[in-house]
Amino acid sequence: MGLASWWDRHGVPRMIKICCGAPPIMKLRGQLIPLATGDVFELGCGGGINQQFYNAGAITSYAGIDPGEKLLDYANAEAEKRGWSADIRNGVGEAIPFSDASFDTVVCTYTLCSVQDEKQVLKEMRRILRPGGTLLFLEHGRAPDAHVAKWQSRIEPFWKPFAGGCHLTRPITSAVIDAGFAVQPMGAEYAPKTPRWAGWMEWGRAVKSC
Ligand SMILES: C[S@@+](CC[C@H](N)C(=O)[O-])C[C@H]1O[C@@H](n2cnc3c(N)ncnc32)[C@H](O)[C@@H]1O
Repeated sequence: MGLASWWDRHGVPRMIKICCGAPPIMKLRGQLIPLATGDVFELGCGGGINQQFYNAGAITSYAGIDPGEKLLDYANAEAEKRGWSADIRNGVGEAIPFSDASFDTVVCTYTLCSVQDEKQVLKEMRRILRPGGTLLFLEHGRAPDAHVAKWQSRIEPFWKPFAGGCHLTRPITSAVIDAGFAVQPMGAEYAPKTPRWAGWMEWGRAVKSC
C-alpha cells in the first residue's frame, strides 16, 4: 500500500474524527441535529459523531450512507453502543440507495465539501425527502470575504488530496437554494481558532417545497 492510500484509509478517518469533533463544531451539531424528526437519513454518516445528538423520542428510524469503510466501522460501533437498529450502508450521495420520498429529515454535516458532484447529491437528497420534508445542513465552504476566498482557491488544490477530497470553495446556502429548497438560515460564521480559509461555516433548515 502506497503512502497516499495508507493516508486515505487510516489517516483521513482519524483526522476527521478529531477536526469534526472540535468543541465549537460539537456545539453547532447540538443545536441542529435534535431538530431531526420522523424517518431520518444521514448523508456521510461515517464517524457516527452526530448520533449522540439525535432526539431519540422524535425520530422513528435512522439510516445513513458513507463510502469510507473505516468511518462506517465507527458509525456502526456508535449505533451498537446506543442499541439502535440503524440501517447504515456503504454508498455515495450521488446515487442514494433509497426510494423517492422515503424520509422526513435528511441530515448533511461537513459532507457536501467532500462529495464528487454536489449538485447531483443535492438532487438526490431532495428526491428521497417526502414533500414538506427537511434537509438539516451544517457545512463549511466558500467564505464571503473576497481575500479569504482568494486564498481558499489557492490552497484547495493542495488541501484536497490531503483531506479526503475536501473542497474549500463550494458555496453552501446558495447551492441548497439552487437545488430547489426553501432555506431558513440558522447561522453563518468562521469557526473559532481555525484558519479562515478552512473555517467558514453555514447552517440551516431547508424545506422541500413541492
Ligand atoms: C469531513 S467528513 C464528515 C463526516 C460526518 N458527516 C461529520 O459530520 O462528522 C466527510 C464525509 O463525507 C464522506 N463522503 C465522501 N464522499 C462522499 C460521497 N460521494 N457521498 C457521501 N459521503 C461522502 C466521507 O467518507 C466522510 O465521512
